[in-house]
Order: sequence, then structure tokens, then C-alpha cells
Amino acid sequence: MYNQKVLDAFAHPQNVGEIENPDGEGTVGNATCGDIMRITLRIENDVIVDAKFQTFGCAAAIATSSTATQMVIGMTVDEALKLTNARVVEELEGLPPQKIHCSVLAEEAIKKAIEDYRAKQQNIQLDKTKIDYV
Ligand code: FES
Repeated sequence: MYNQKVLDAFAHPQNVGEIENPDGEGTVGNATCGDIMRITLRIENDVIVDAKFQTFGCAAAIATSSTATQMVIGMTVDEALKLTNARVVEELEGLPPQKIHCSVLAEEAIKKAIEDYRAKQQNIQLDKTKIDYV
């Protein structure tokens, strides 16, 4: 079902965990299956210097989260906002069609974490308990 690159990313995920006192954090749920992902970011001068994820999800969700966090480290927040799930799937050399929806979690969690970062810069507190289903 999965190619070797996806299996490797699932078996050896990078950036698992949580950044303490993150500059941005976002939690999203998958409307299709109910799985949940949380991303925390460390951002310095608008550049993502660290990203970590926690996923209650399937192998595809874990592989895409691992890959997406690796991809955004070193990007500016504007660049990271342009990262699509399709680009992450391409980096993994494909996912089975029925697992494409799993890759949406990482893209949306990163966007939500950046939204939180930008809100914090304006001293706006977002509701951290709210889970957006995407
Ligand atoms: Fe839920 Fe993959 S089945 S994220």
C-alpha cells in the first residue's frame, strides 16, 4: 500500500514531540476520520527554526507530519504558508489515493500555528482548546 519512503518516514519519524513555550501552535482534526494533529513552532525573525508534531493518526498522517516539519524548518513563515499537502505528498513520492486526506492535517496544522504566531505578535490570544476539523 505504501512506498518505501513513506514507510521509512513512518518508522523513523523526525520532529516528534512538543516545543516548550512555542511561538506558534496549532491543533487540527481530520473531518474524514477524526484523527488529530498538533504542531508547535519556534520562530525567530519570521523564520521557522524548529517544528515538532504530535499525531493521533495513521501511518500516512505520521509520515506527512514528519516530512512537513522537516520541510518548513528554515522557511520564512510566508514560505511555510505556501506549503501544500500536495507538495508534501510529492516529497514522499506519493500516497495511496485513499490516504491523501491524511496529508491535509500537517498543512493545516502548520497554517494554524502560524496564525497563532501572528496573533501573538499583535497580543491577541487565540483559543488553544479549539480544534478545527479540516
Ligand atoms: Fe486519519 Fe489517516 S486515517 S489521518
